[in-house]
Amino acid sequence: MNDPSSAPPAATRRTRIPVAVLGATGAVGQTFVGLLHDHPWFELVEVAASDRSAGHAYGEVAHWLGGELPARIAALPVAPCDPARIDAPIVFSALDAAVAGDVEAAFARAGRFVLSNARNYRLDADVPLLIPEINPEHVVLLDRQRARRGWTGAIVTNSNCSTMVVALALAPLHQAFGVSQVFVTTLQAVSGAGYPGVPSLDILGNVIPYIGGGEEEKIETETLKLLGTLSAGGVTPAPMRISAQVTRVPVEHGHTVCMAVALERSADPDAAIDAIEHWPGAVAALALPSAPTPPIVVTRQIDRPQPRRDAGAGRGMQVVVGRVRRDPILDLRLVALGHNTIRGAAGASVLNAELLVARGLLGS
Ligand SMILES: NC(=O)c1ccc[n+]([C@@H]2O[C@H](COP(=O)([O-])OP(=O)(O)OC[C@H]3O[C@@H](n4cnc5c(N)ncnc54)[C@H](OP(=O)(O)O)[C@@H]3O)[C@@H](O)[C@H]2O)c1
Repeated sequence: MNDPSSAPPAATRRTRIPVAVLGATGAVGQTFVGLLHDHPWFELVEVAASDRSAGHAYGEVAHWLGGELPARIAALPVAPCDPARIDAPIVFSALDAAVAGDVEAAFARAGRFVLSNARNYRLDADVPLLIPEINPEHVVLLDRQRARRGWTGAIVTNSNCSTMVVALALAPLHQAFGVSQVFVTTLQAVSGAGYPGVPSLDILGNVIPYIGGGEEEKIETETLKLLGTLSAGGVTPAPMRISAQVTRVPVEHGHTVCMAVALERSADPDAAIDAIEHWPGAVAALALPSAPTPPIVVTRQIDRPQPRRDAGAGRGMQVVVGRVRRDPILDLRLVALGHNTIRGAAGASVLNAELLVARGLLGS
């Protein structure tokens, strides 16, 4: 495969590629619908969910929380998550991990490109775990995936929502100075738990110092694959150690991560800020429709970033970093924020699909 950073910008497409959303009624599924209903390259033609929803119009069964639901989308019939009932060649999956494993494999086996938000395949050696700004070259794993699994389709994954914020904030520092150790504490929004999610009486006026499903381990392992390097055996994890503690807080959208970082080559806060805010990311030249410019914004305001004020930066696709300062034990401390259902989930999948289109792997 070619170096993705050298590929020409994808031309404006005259016909949009039909796409479907699996798990379209949930928190991430609704975000997909919001991002795809007027996407320049993709046309949302099918939605699917559980048997509880299948057979109904989308507008009847989706507890829609995203403002005005376009009439065309509201009228779409909800299909079951069965490749025999979905025609679209590209399938965005917002399925829970409990069902995603079998369903996503069935779609890939049936020749579909699956862009997955679930944790099931992220760490498999033949599955790309992509953030286009960081590791677009990892798409070469698709050749191995197809050869090994015999699939005509494929699965491409995006990371856990907090991992997305951690990895994007660390990438410029790792490239410039080498990151060796990180302590991460997250403050995660309730929308990260899906709909209906955490009971209101458990979370209002409260902080819950536990998130199930291996949330801390996801940050500790997925970040190393994202920042890792391609090798003969797949991806060699980045040689850093990460310790994560996660909390759920009464915030609607936006995961905040507080990090203390040890570097291999020391850098003062000004040098770190310079590296972060001048970091173009690996795909700037491709002008992908969902790619924010720049990928990361640095705020100098002493009390930012804040979820209410900053989670929408770059239409929810930018990570906002602030409070970059010296750490008395490691080298640096900082706070980073990202929108969990957009940059941390649906927007990340859409951006991955755009990268695949730009590289001629989809829709050609
Ligand atoms: N929320 C976030 O910020 C976030 C961020 C990153 C990644 N993720 C991941 O994204 C995925 C979706 O999360 P979410 O927060 O959107 O969850 P959610 O709100 O609970 O939505 C789950 C969706 O899956 C469908 N579903 C449930 N059981 C099913 C079954 N047996 N067969 C087919 N469809 C089924 C539901 O359909 P019905 O309505 O018909 O039940 C619904 O559309 C999860 O893997 C999650 O870990 C979430």
